[in-house]
Amino acid sequence: MRPPKDEQPHTSVLLDEVVHALQPRGGVGFTALDCTVGAGGHAYALLERSEPDGMLTGLDADPNALELAQKRLERFGERVTLVQRNFGELAELELEPMNAIVFDLGLSSMQLDSSGRGFSFRMEEPLDMRFDPTSRSSTAEELLNTLPELELERVLREYGEEPRARRVAQQIVRRRPLHHTTELVAAVTAALGPARGRIHPATRTFQALRIAVNDELGGLERALDAAIQLLRPHGRVAVISFHSLEDRIVKWRFRGWAEQSLATIITRKPVVPTKEEASSNPRARSAKLRVAERS
Ligand SMILES: C[S@@+](CC[C@H](N)C(=O)[O-])C[C@H]1O[C@@H](n2cnc3c(N)ncnc32)[C@H](O)[C@@H]1O
Repeated sequence: MRPPKDEQPHTSVLLDEVVHALQPRGGVGFTALDCTVGAGGHAYALLERSEPDGMLTGLDADPNALELAQKRLERFGERVTLVQRNFGELAELELEPMNAIVFDLGLSSMQLDSSGRGFSFRMEEPLDMRFDPTSRSSTAEELLNTLPELELERVLREYGEEPRARRVAQQIVRRRPLHHTTELVAAVTAALGPARGRIHPATRTFQALRIAVNDELGGLERALDAAIQLLRPHGRVAVISFHSLEDRIVKWRFRGWAEQSLATIITRKPVVPTKEEASSNPRARSAKLRVAERS
């Protein structure tokens, strides 16, 4: 059973597919790790399907997300442990072996719509973009106002796959200092022209900065390396990614594991949402799920 609709601040992507892949069950000492617990949707389903004794550890870098997860998962009592931590530090956590590990990467709808941290180009907010606002890492504002133009161009090209990164970087540098999302959108629009079509011209720039601020790609690589070590034999890891940079990392890590006979790839091709899911939840449109099983 899914949590009641009116309590859902974020609609979980590929929920049935993740549950099917991770095979939660009760009475066998099942243990699961949700590295991006967010609003707790995937965690809820895994706990419910592993009644009465399945255990789940949930991580999130964002303290607000953990508060939500705490409420959503309250009814499972001591079967749940929530930890505020970046999954890039998974290797340091000394967790017990797991039957199932899930990553649902990126942002939740709450972070986009109401975090006040500048993740969305549709709001006027300060340019923070840290998943963990208590961390000491640089904010988007600091990067935008201090990186040399060439470095900014590299960030936009590599992490945003922005083909006109140089023009955007030039506009940003010309308009410094930038403090709010609206100023960044204005710089991108000055470089690339106004919004036309379905994809807003600032999408790539915002993605690039968020990835840089949170070291998202490095964190994912470190987390996958730790995850394969944590899995029990026949335990499974499921990763939902939302853009090609993440998906490429997952695909190559899985291939590397298969070549070393550490794991079997369960999804030859990534699982994508059904037409129904993609039309009812626009966030799901770019989602790709890959699953591997520990040998
Ligand atoms: C898409 S949401 C997860 C939603 C969740 N699966 C659900 O069904 O409600 C992604 C979450 O991962 C968290 N996150 C992203 N990168 C992270 C990282 N490196 N370490 C820990 N949490 C991270 C975000 O703060 C966000 O809450």
